[in-house]
Amino acid sequence: MTLDAGELERLYAYPAADRPWVRTNFVSTLDGAATGTDGKSGTLGGEADTRVFALLRSLSDVIVVGAGTARDEGYADFEVDTELRARLGLAPAPTMVLVSRRLDIPPALIARGTVVVTTADADPEAVAALGRTLEVIAEGRGEIDWTAVLAWFAERGWNRVLCEGGPSLHGELVGLDLVDELCLTIAPVLTAGDAPRIAHGDDPVHHTMTLAHAIEADGGLLTRWVRSRHP
Ligand SMILES: NC(=O)c1ccc[n+]([C@@H]2O[C@H](COP(=O)([O-])OP(=O)(O)OC[C@H]3O[C@@H](n4cnc5c(N)ncnc54)[C@H](OP(=O)(O)O)[C@@H]3O)[C@@H](O)[C@H]2O)c1
Repeated sequence: MTLDAGELERLYAYPAADRPWVRTNFVSTLDGAATGTDGKSGTLGGEADTRVFALLRSLSDVIVVGAGTARDEGYADFEVDTELRARLGLAPAPTMVLVSRRLDIPPALIARGTVVVTTADADPEAVAALGRTLEVIAEGRGEIDWTAVLAWFAERGWNRVLCEGGPSLHGELVGLDLVDELCLTIAPVLTAGDAPRIAHGDDPVHHTMTLAHAIEADGGLLTRWVRSRHP
């Protein structure tokens, strides 16, 4: 199927929400692997997935990513559709939010004015060192207090939250039932092996999702799933 830019923008528009809406974005093989044979996810997605990945960034206020993914995938500078963002009244670029306990932050991200989310009991020296160039949000002892972090986002009007993983961070957000929607590209590939899934955590949960759309592209599917929250 040919993907029309306007139609994609409509399909992936954030809902009008008066709170931070947490969208996560992943690619997975048919047998549920979150990484290809090179241990990265980029090799799984085709051209359509790349387009949607970029569009989701362009539609977001904030991009949240675990330090593991930032390190493994070599996160660095990135471009967004500034015309689209201006049309939607968004800031010129989304803010990158890096989640880390050890505070081993790739230098390329430090240069971008990234915000770092960590725990309140993180190494004070590392927090102080980072705090000289970056904003550090330290919430929660032992585990990050995500409710407090999202309240912090809300204060800044960051309601369009995009989380790009990885599986550890995603598993935690799923476990806390904070994921409002999942954008999942299903790649037409079988891998077997012992690759991680797109979410893992200590305790299994059962959260039902409703299909918003499924588009055939590059032989696979671009899907969007919204959390079913019945009162
Ligand atoms: N298929 C996909 O769409 C997709 C998407 C993203 C990533 N991936 C793949 O997933 C793999 C990485 O997986 P991963 O589970 O290690 O990724 P991850 O969740 O990005 O990274 C884990 C690390 O991030 C930090 N972190 C995450 N959640 C945290 C939390 N709640 N509190 C404190 N720190 C937290 C910690 O960093 P510190 O070590 O700094 O404390 C932790 O060691 C890579 O191979 C990547 O290619 C696939």
